[in-house]
Amino acid sequence: MAYRLYLCNGPHCTARGADTTRRALEQALWELGLLTAVELQLSGCQDHCDHGPNLLIYPGACRYVGVTSERAAAIVACHLRNDTPIVAWQATPDMRRGAG
Ligand code: FES
Repeated sequence: MAYRLYLCNGPHCTARGADTTRRALEQALWELGLLTAVELQLSGCQDHCDHGPNLLIYPGACRYVGVTSERAAAIVACHLRNDTPIVAWQATPDMRRGAG
């Protein structure tokens, strides 16, 4: 596996549309022929609840926040297919729950 993905399945990210994000990730992986190169799993809360849906990618680790279905498709194309992370959508330290 080239990449391992952990999509938050916690209550806040689920309320923010993580199920739709999961379907978009699976669709994009299928369309780009990456199903055998990428492992997608669901995780528990990733402690960035106010910014979900959240997606953690290894190697990295790289955490994406606000992963809508549109962002999910772009992350698959740019980060997973082209090995070019999208910095603008990554978490910053102040986003962690309880920070600040
Ligand atoms: S529920 Fe997803 S980060 Fe907390």
